[in-house]
Amino acid sequence: MKYNDFYSESIRNPEDFWKEQAQALAWNRFPTEILKDAPNGGNEWFSDGELNMSYLCIDRHIEAGFGDQVAIYYDSPVTNVKANITYMQLRDEVSKLAGGLKHLGLEKGDTAIIYMPMIPQAVYAMLACARLGLIHSVVFGGFAPHELAIRIDDCKPKVIITASNGIEIEKIIPYKPFVDEAIALAKHKTERVVIFDRKLGVHIPKMNYDVDYDTLVKESEPAEPVQVKSTHPLYILYTSGTTGTPKGIVRDTGGYATALKASMKYVYGIEEGDVYWAASDVGWVVGHSYIAYAPLLNRNSTVLFEGKPIKTPDASTFWRVISEYKVKVMFTAPTAIRAIKKEDPDGLLLKKYDLSCLEYQFLAGERCDVATLEWTQEKLGIPVIDHWWQTESGWPMLANMVGVELQPIKPGSAGFPVHGYNIQIMGEDGNLCGTNEEGYVLVKLPLPPGCLLDVWQNTKRFVSGYLEKFPGYYFSGDGGYKDEEGYVFITGRVDDIINVAGHRLSTAEMEEIVASHPAIAECAVFGIHCDLKGQRPLGLAVLKSGTDITSQKLEKEVIHNVRRDIGAVASFKELLVVNRLPKTRSGKILRKLLRNIADKSEYPIPSTIDDVAIIDEIKQAYSARNIGKPKKQTI
Ligand code: COA
Ligand code: AMP
Repeated sequence: MKYNDFYSESIRNPEDFWKEQAQALAWNRFPTEILKDAPNGGNEWFSDGELNMSYLCIDRHIEAGFGDQVAIYYDSPVTNVKANITYMQLRDEVSKLAGGLKHLGLEKGDTAIIYMPMIPQAVYAMLACARLGLIHSVVFGGFAPHELAIRIDDCKPKVIITASNGIEIEKIIPYKPFVDEAIALAKHKTERVVIFDRKLGVHIPKMNYDVDYDTLVKESEPAEPVQVKSTHPLYILYTSGTTGTPKGIVRDTGGYATALKASMKYVYGIEEGDVYWAASDVGWVVGHSYIAYAPLLNRNSTVLFEGKPIKTPDASTFWRVISEYKVKVMFTAPTAIRAIKKEDPDGLLLKKYDLSCLEYQFLAGERCDVATLEWTQEKLGIPVIDHWWQTESGWPMLANMVGVELQPIKPGSAGFPVHGYNIQIMGEDGNLCGTNEEGYVLVKLPLPPGCLLDVWQNTKRFVSGYLEKFPGYYFSGDGGYKDEEGYVFITGRVDDIINVAGHRLSTAEMEEIVASHPAIAECAVFGIHCDLKGQRPLGLAVLKSGTDITSQKLEKEVIHNVRRDIGAVASFKELLVVNRLPKTRSGKILRKLLRNIADKSEYPIPSTIDDVAIIDEIKQAYSARNIGKPKKQTI
């Protein structure tokens, strides 16, 4: 098959193309209405179709005779536990937990938060919700109670499913006290908290809303899958936006299932029965799509890995897992590779394992630097594929589609548009950009199946954030360009979002927390280059006059506040006190200039700057803390 023909067909004739893809699923009611405009300005797929995601991911495979195939390889180097969970066992666990949730009074359309580490019970909980038509919202374990409380108030869960603890490189992270604190902070009162005790001796504070996971499962009857409409929300996944408040991306069921199933074959080159590993976390979109739903829909064995690329116990862990489970395709973030490369630059640990099973290594989540791509390619000796997507899309938008036709790899590029995505690069003036000309990366509507339906309870934000800026197009928030051969290069976000170790964070949110310190008059938080994590946040603050606090004390307090309110995952570790911030003559802080001074060897000085002399002050502040390298300027 030729990529150009396949891709062009998806754009020329989307309804026929996607109707054919939808036939790969076992629908309870196959849709007659394939694509229609949605009232919110977006589009809906397969509106009158009906199905159940948990049935498609589990029961269907058992009915086809694959009940004994491993569904999940759970591998936890942090607890030294491994488990091979078959599709039959998965059905027992999921249907009994679903029965338990039903017993607690949850019904189709209710919402549930899942706040769990990387253990099988997290995936059981997602699938149990899907089985009953409950809308789940998984919250990443690295987020603090305050962040959890924001999500509780937004999606108003009837139940929170959690565990006694997570484990971060030799550190126990107790989850239950965080949940209790979040419930106390939130206005919405959650009725029940179901806790899975990992039996690692971690104290679980008792509250009257608690329900023990094991008891609930033991005492409940298995529940059968509940048929839902294709457009029924499967989940809400909160992600950083350009304001301080995260937005709840709403995902449908039928469009998502169709898109994921097709992506396994065409994007990742994976067949049913193969072993697939996405080394991410169920709290992120990668975890939703490629640890849980896509591999299970596609009857693969998915690896659920509770560890890090290094220090659990060392930089050979990834290679051990690949060879042990015979992983055919792996997906991770460039940060993970950089971490491994730093510990084992010559790839000596890699040589200890038979990695002949691995056919493709995929990377995403942040920009992949050429050195990381080339190192991985050289050490593994297989195609290393950078591909681009985001929480909103739910599955890849740009890739080298190995299941269709492997194209030559161009380091620095995330490849070509994936089937269904009509990617265009446009300038601020609304004109399409020429070859190699940088602009906004947009998708011409309609979006293919699987992309966001809406922002939860906030259609206004959906429209203003994604559809209004360029009418007729979806605005991705990323900048980029296409070269003469059609390869697309993503150059980075054009807003306040940064990617730290592949984790998407909002600098606007951090800035709100920094600004709330009583000693601070004004501040700016922005992302700067980090050799390991790709980007890291940096804060600059101007003190209120007459304030008596040392810069060291202030920095310590602000770091503490960001960690308290967002969580350790924010990686906010530097705050510099300066006398003033660079601004335009109309008073806008020039954050991009602050970032450029730290990152770029050459950068333009905005003609609107109110006082050029401030640049030297900022450079001095940076150099006192070893931030950035010597620079040249262009005006
Ligand atoms: N629960 C609780 N805390 C968490 C957490 C979780 N699930 N995940 C991360 N944290 C904490 C870490 O313990 C760390 O805390 P610390 O400041 O007390 O040390 C902090 O959040 C920052 O974590 P991280 O950015 O992951 O840095 P790290 O130094 O612990 O690890 C890497 C560095 C490179 C090994 C790690 O970032 C990594 O594995 N990156 C790959 C990321 C990835 O797969 N992303 C998925 C997107 S596709
Ligand atoms: P998230 O929603 O957490 O998946 O983050 C999505 C954002 O990560 C995108 O909007 C990009 O800014 C960035 N991103 C993801 N993959 C890539 C990639 N392959 N190259 C460059 N940036 C990427």
